[in-house]
Amino acid sequence: MDWGMQNRLSNIIKPDTGRTVMLAVDHGYFLGPTTGLEAPGKTVEPLLEYADTLMLTRGVLRSCVDPNTDVPIVLRVSGGTSILGNLANEGLTVSMKDAVRLNVSGVALSIFVGDALEKQSLLNMAKLVDEATEYGIPTLAVTAVGKEMVRDARYLGLACRIAAELGVQFVKTYYCDGFEKIIENCPVPVVIAGGKKIPEADALKLAYNGIKKGAVGVDMGRNIFQSEHPVPMIRAVREVVHNNMTAKKALDLYETLAEEEKKKSRRKSKN
Ligand code: 5RP
Repeated sequence: MDWGMQNRLSNIIKPDTGRTVMLAVDHGYFLGPTTGLEAPGKTVEPLLEYADTLMLTRGVLRSCVDPNTDVPIVLRVSGGTSILGNLANEGLTVSMKDAVRLNVSGVALSIFVGDALEKQSLLNMAKLVDEATEYGIPTLAVTAVGKEMVRDARYLGLACRIAAELGVQFVKTYYCDGFEKIIENCPVPVVIAGGKKIPEADALKLAYNGIKKGAVGVDMGRNIFQSEHPVPMIRAVREVVHNNMTAKKALDLYETLAEEEKKKSRRKSKN
């Protein structure tokens, strides 16, 4: 791996622990005004100091994130579809020139293995890898699920392995039973998505299990920014990811920090 590529990758996956907490706020690229991201700048601002990487679109980056931030950016560069259409029908939406201009540490796109449009998404990915490699920028493949496919180790393992074979530097997938098999068969680092909002205890268990079975981190969105207490949640997730904290201890931490936050806001509203 060349120096620039390795350096950018180490902005994302922290060399001291070999892990990463990526904060995903790119949902609007097909979901529009997602709950919790109505004002993305406001949502992201208090979370930034606890995120190793911010994953988002160039529009939100430019209009809502302070350019003085030192948080590395993973830019979503695929899209062109909405929740109302066929999500698999994505294309590349950002030129590499613009990605470089935005000083990103990585670029991300979705692949739809198992969908009728799998070839299109895989060829988009191969093209992106070619272009990003020219600039020493790592590519993240997001393994989205084809309509007919279930999120099991066989299917997700297939998607992750194909992404790695086609040259991406890291992969994002879902946690599932038999996750260790996906890791065993994927020669590049894997991060797990959080998925739909679930209770904090379950999201922390998901993160813990993913890390225990070999993920290098999380690329988590809704389970952080839709939590009643996003800052306590991301801080608890960090402990799981970087310090191997158990899910139970992380939940205790979340609850303690959330209680402190509530007390602070009660004091504020009294004054
Ligand atoms: C959508 C994405 C999102 O970034 C991803 O799903 C992570 O967010 P969440 O934890 O909310 O699932 O890549 O395709």
